[in-house]
Amino acid sequence: MTLTSTHTRLIDLLPTRVSDDNGLAQDVMQGLSQSPKKLSSRFFYDAKGSQLFQQIMQLPEYYLTKLEHQILEKQRKEILFAMDTHTPFQLVDLGAGDAYKTKLLLAELVASKADFSYVPLDISDDQLNLLLEDLHHRLPKLPVQALAAEYFQGLEWLNQNQRQRKVVLFLGSNIGNFDLEEARNFLCTLRQSLNPEDAFLLGLDLRKDPEKMRRAYADAAGVTSAFNLNLLHRINKELQADFDLDQFQHFAEYDPLEGTMRSFLISKINQKVHIEAIGQTFSFEAWEAIHTENSYKFSLRQVEEMAGACGFRVQDVFTDPSHGFADVLLRPV
Ligand code: TRP
Repeated sequence: MTLTSTHTRLIDLLPTRVSDDNGLAQDVMQGLSQSPKKLSSRFFYDAKGSQLFQQIMQLPEYYLTKLEHQILEKQRKEILFAMDTHTPFQLVDLGAGDAYKTKLLLAELVASKADFSYVPLDISDDQLNLLLEDLHHRLPKLPVQALAAEYFQGLEWLNQNQRQRKVVLFLGSNIGNFDLEEARNFLCTLRQSLNPEDAFLLGLDLRKDPEKMRRAYADAAGVTSAFNLNLLHRINKELQADFDLDQFQHFAEYDPLEGTMRSFLISKINQKVHIEAIGQTFSFEAWEAIHTENSYKFSLRQVEEMAGACGFRVQDVFTDPSHGFADVLLRPV
């Protein structure tokens, strides 16, 4: 545990394994041995990846962040009212990142003298340190306890810290990066860690014109491509591999039957890649794909069903005028 100031601290819950890696070696070993090949998206967010994702969020094509920001900006009073911010609580932000959207709520809460503390959780401790520093300048009196952790460790933390009332945020449609079964499992596990007076605000990207969605995952400036390719760069760095980044290309496609945006890294040529840290060489055929991410898009009916199956009721749905994105306020039943 590192104490950063009287009001802020960072607690590291990330799994430390005997070999002192973060699970990357095992994920790469398994993922590249199977067919089709895949790599797990939680390894996107090293310091460089977190920084690139921040750039993605500012891209003109990446409508998700803009729409959600607009919802939180325009309807923040209604949202906070619906959460009941007059009784003391902890605001737990799962996958906080730079908290670009949450800061709208934080500023409003501080201005209204709400009795609360902020608990941002993120997989990148570099990212959390930047956030702590930023909040320390912007809102010096705000008590912050940052958690460096994966999502399910965050749920574990919630389970063990049930004394104070919780308002949980899971914004940015991050739930869409789980497959449907994982998403349900996540919702049900979260529900078990919440008490009747707690509240949960869930951000969801809604189904819309596929062309618009595809542009959000294949921007003109190539930032998304750099973000996806950074995964290979990270493997080169951390596992002493020799991926030639010029011989792979980013590709994203939307499946309207399943509502899934899928991202891939595709090998442009026949090639072999050696990964020193795991003593393996992997072969790639020309145009063979590595599946790196699913970004699921929802319908509101589906969300209601899934939440209901886990013991939540939908108290409010906040959307933007185009109904492109929704922040849904869920309550335990
Ligand atoms: N969680 C983000 C999303 O699904 C991550 C993301 C944005 C992403 N663009 C990407 C992941 C491109 C892989 C490739 O929207």
